[in-house]
Amino acid sequence: MFYLKSFNILVISDEAKKVYDIFDSIGITLRKSSSSKKQTFSNLSSYDIAFLDIDAEGWENRLIELKQHLPVIAFGKPDINKAVKSMKLGARDFLQKPLKNTEVKEIFAQFQDKPKIEIEGIIGTSRIMENVYCGIRKAALTDSNVLITGESGTGKELVARAIHKLSDRKNKPFVVINCTAIPDTLLESELFGFEKGSFTGANYTKKGLIEWADGGTLFFDEIGDVSPLFQTKILRVIQESEFIRIGGTSYVKVDVRFIAATNRDLLKTCKEGIFREDLFYRLNVIHIEIPPLRSRKEDIPALIDTFIKKHSLKRKDIQIRGITDEAIDTLMNYSFPGNVRELENIIERAIAFTNSPEITVKDLPAYLQKNQSAKKTLSGTLREAVDNFEKELIWSALQKSRGNISKAAEILGIHRQQLQRKLKQYKIAT
Ligand SMILES: Nc1ncnc2c1ncn2[C@@H]1O[C@H](COP(=O)(O)OP(=O)(O)OP(=O)(O)O)[C@@H](O)[C@H]1O
Ligand SMILES: [Mg+2]
Repeated sequence: MFYLKSFNILVISDEAKKVYDIFDSIGITLRKSSSSKKQTFSNLSSYDIAFLDIDAEGWENRLIELKQHLPVIAFGKPDINKAVKSMKLGARDFLQKPLKNTEVKEIFAQFQDKPKIEIEGIIGTSRIMENVYCGIRKAALTDSNVLITGESGTGKELVARAIHKLSDRKNKPFVVINCTAIPDTLLESELFGFEKGSFTGANYTKKGLIEWADGGTLFFDEIGDVSPLFQTKILRVIQESEFIRIGGTSYVKVDVRFIAATNRDLLKTCKEGIFREDLFYRLNVIHIEIPPLRSRKEDIPALIDTFIKKHSLKRKDIQIRGITDEAIDTLMNYSFPGNVRELENIIERAIAFTNSPEITVKDLPAYLQKNQSAKKTLSGTLREAVDNFEKELIWSALQKSRGNISKAAEILGIHRQQLQRKLKQYKIAT
């Protein structure tokens, strides 16, 4: 069934009224519209789609400007050359005048909401997440740069990957640059690569990360924490889509879409002079803000379900089927400073701890149980209290050692065999 939603549409035409009549007749609701013929538009990212009349003067430049921000549908009198040119310049589609209801309907069908529950592994049905999904879909339809902001653990990398997977670039590489992991001394060699013989030890020509991403997407993670040198180096590449390898003599051209993520307030760091304003504006063409988990608590149950399914297979001795209502309540009352990552961690840990097919409050970390009711944690026997404490210590050592048993034993100051016995005793799966 064809389900129509409301759209923010920008119509640029002398005949905008006719276009609106068509939208009206096929049941498209306009949340916001503009038929502005002005040369410049502000806040273009707040629109979902633009209809651009290419029978008007200067349409080429307008199209080039618009397509940076949103999908553009060109329309005009039958003229094959112009139609082809509009597509070459980046229009998503061309429609012939007079516009036909069925064709306009087909265009909007491409922009319909897909089922809300999941988009490329992202869970959440809250209104807030719906907005995030809209941003993802919109970004996937363009080649514009994207800035993803949000607290740690909110899913910024997940969103960046989703944009890539839904875009035309999906079959090309998605390259992650963990910006803070590259020291300034290695910056150029990592980003741009080097030519054979450019320095002692350069026995071969090495491609840099930017070149690896050619045709695909480059994800700058933690962009808010990079050095001034890093900022200068990438600004040029983002502006010009070209760079020179170390020791190279000519520019290497690349076709890359840039996505950057940060948990910092970049505008603030710009004002403080820490982050380059020109780089900020280059990256912030489409902005996706992922709000913290505490402001979309209705997503928590679906996330819990997903994480139980994901991690329950690690328990070979019991089949974990779910979680008690009381444990869900406890989690709903928590503020999750570490956001979705923290929730996943808590569930993974509870699955390792529990002795029953259902996760109970007792399987949650002590700091959560305190919130719920201090009495409960104190009500067991001394043996239980000691066991629980020991389990907590073991768990945190395993987290620190990333599951490496020898290292965890070292952290705990016990022998590896001793730790293995305890893991068995407490049925902690690693
Ligand atoms: N909405 C979601 N649905 C399912 N899983 C999610 C969701 N959001 C985050 N996650 C999971 O939480 C973990 C953290 O996500 P991710 O690494 O994308 O966060 P981040 O914002 O990049 O964090 P950081 O700022 O610490 O790098 C991942 O395991 C990811 O799969
Ligand atoms: Mg991340």
